[in-house]
Amino acid sequence: MKIGSETDSHPAERASGSIAALRKAAATCRACPLWENATQTVFGEGSAKAPIMLVGEQPGDQEDRMGHPFVGPAGQLLARALAAVDIPREQIYITNAVKHFKFELRGNRRLHKKPVDAEIAACYAWLRREIELVAPRLLIALGATAVRSLLGRATPIMANRGALHAYAPSISLLITVHPSFLLRVPEQDKDDEYRRFITDLKLARPFLHPN
Ligand code: URA
Repeated sequence: MKIGSETDSHPAERASGSIAALRKAAATCRACPLWENATQTVFGEGSAKAPIMLVGEQPGDQEDRMGHPFVGPAGQLLARALAAVDIPREQIYITNAVKHFKFELRGNRRLHKKPVDAEIAACYAWLRREIELVAPRLLIALGATAVRSLLGRATPIMANRGALHAYAPSISLLITVHPSFLLRVPEQDKDDEYRRFITDLKLARPFLHPN
């Protein structure tokens, strides 16, 4: 569990207490070099009092251009999965561990590059404030970067997925794969992996309307 370790020098600590104020402050974040090549900061979105917060890795090419999380191919797969488990996107909060797109140019293509630990750590203060303000009862970590950010250490996904873990007082953590993993698996495994993803996400459904 990792909550509460940043210093006042981070812009997230100086932003006042609303998601709108955080989003505004994050728009000019220079806490790591990723802002230099990205189009814009892609901040979290959704219900400010959501019982469930979903945490991805970082914006992709389309998210970077459009300024919204999970609107590209991985986002479309995620939307299909959320609909399958009856979790309306507008009732949850969706964000990323890292809020700028990291990429490598190949010709005129921008290829996704995994954020390194220092970039994940530099962005954690934003995620921590989002968690404090939204106060979800459940965090869903999608993939290794999200888990790395939330727990502060590398944690195997496959060994820990599909179960509810204690995260902080009154906050549970569900670990599962990133939807882009499902886009990359060999064709013959796609249906099985999608079904496993759905099985994991079903654990989140009771958090929408407890009791
Ligand atoms: N992948 C992520 O982790 N987040 C996004 O917003 C888009 C793709």
